[in-house]
Amino acid sequence: MWSLVRFELNQDRRELGVASHWTLLEALRYGLGMTGSKQGCDKGDCGACTVLLDGEPTLSCITPALEAEGRRVTSVEGLATAEGPHPLQAAFGECGAAQCGFCTPGILMSAAALLDRNLDPTRDEIKEALSGNLCRCTGYTKILDAVELAARRLREAEQAEDERATA
Ligand code: FES
Ligand code: FES
Repeated sequence: MWSLVRFELNQDRRELGVASHWTLLEALRYGLGMTGSKQGCDKGDCGACTVLLDGEPTLSCITPALEAEGRRVTSVEGLATAEGPHPLQAAFGECGAAQCGFCTPGILMSAAALLDRNLDPTRDEIKEALSGNLCRCTGYTKILDAVELAARRLREAEQAEDERATA
């Protein structure tokens, strides 16, 4: 049986016919051609499919597409802006935090959710936020370094903005 699901994807309104058994990952990848979210284990173990659902990291491979109805979905395609890559994306490139890159979209989304609620996380808080995201290539150290670098830059940007506002 097919149903219409309506949701916001990366700030655009979307309507899509989905089969009742479709996952959100299938809706994104095969219904909308948004292939940034990766299909890894397809059973909730690896985190490669992580997107944000109303700002919360969510494993889209085990989330029914119909659960997105009326909600806000952010995928890795929504991280960059017209001004350029998200600071996390820039930091991952600079720190060499992506090798094969298969895990990277999911890790970026988990990290983005962390930095949205905490711009000054400890190393342990970063580890905890990324604990559901597996990476076979990097050994994780460069990923943690990249998240710390992005957090520092976001704090500096916020501080500069505050200083401008009070000047
Ligand atoms: S593909 Fe979703 S957790 Fe692995
Ligand atoms: S960079 Fe290859 S799995 Fe993480």
